[in-house]
Amino acid sequence: MTNLKGKDILHGNQFSKKDIEAIIKVASNFEKGLKKKDSLTLLKGKILATLFYEPSTRTRLSFEAAMQRLGGGVISMGSVESSSVAKGETLTDTVRTVSQYADVIVIRHPRTGSAREAADAVPIPIINAGDGTGQHPTQALLDIYTIKKELGSLKNLTICMVGDLKYGRTVHALVELLSLYETRVYFVSPPTLRIPEEITSNLKQKGIEIEETEDMMKAASASDLIYMTRIQKERFTDLSEYEKLKGSYIINEEFLKKLKKKITILHPLPRVDEISTDVDDYPGAAYFRQMRNGVFVRMALLSMVLGRTP
Ligand code: NCD
Repeated sequence: MTNLKGKDILHGNQFSKKDIEAIIKVASNFEKGLKKKDSLTLLKGKILATLFYEPSTRTRLSFEAAMQRLGGGVISMGSVESSSVAKGETLTDTVRTVSQYADVIVIRHPRTGSAREAADAVPIPIINAGDGTGQHPTQALLDIYTIKKELGSLKNLTICMVGDLKYGRTVHALVELLSLYETRVYFVSPPTLRIPEEITSNLKQKGIEIEETEDMMKAASASDLIYMTRIQKERFTDLSEYEKLKGSYIINEEFLKKLKKKITILHPLPRVDEISTDVDDYPGAAYFRQMRNGVFVRMALLSMVLGRTP
């Protein structure tokens, strides 16, 4: 039995297939529930705190929406400049403080490993909403939920992941989940932004078929789904290097015409130039549906870690 009560959500590798199935089931029930009612009361009296040390639109707002749809309350640190972080307070002290006011904390921070550090400091559940170039497990879960909904099943898929595979934490988290499903994966990136060796060797050990290439057309032609990502400008120490790499891969109408088959396209967003807006009406363009799914999956996670699953 999956029981996430009191647990932290820190890394893609912490989930079993059973956990994922349970999360998908709860999320799907909330999705149906919200078609009948605007909000539910399951988390009435509970408080979520959001602590974002890096920019966010979808992750923070969908967590806050999820909590409010469940009848819970939200407190938010706002910007780093407006909190005691600007006075030099450590992450541990800030998290200890916030844990006195809230029942669960969602945190995004530029340092890899920061979410675990926060989790070690307090007894309440910590949810990692992105730790530097490390992990982004709740995004991976909403990606999996979307893949299942769009393609009908998670079995026997070929997926091509494109863009900044070195710094992209959503990719790092998603491959952990995909590795439970005998997926074949193409990694498409410029040579300097390849997926970390530690991840590929781990996948190979699990028997996952992978291929690294720079050729997006070749990989897409053999795939059911493209997972597109943004070149992570904020991770570059040398911005001229970023300037050289931006625009490396672009999906537009012309690319899709040449591809000669229907494909599903996901993107965690925000996009810069890697998916042209002329693709937005393409039936396989699922990235707007994907962001909406974030609310249902985060409702599931909040209710499960707070031990109030329906
Ligand atoms: C991603 C992130 O923050 O890692 N965004 C998100 O959470 N949807 C992807 C990105 O910023 O490129």
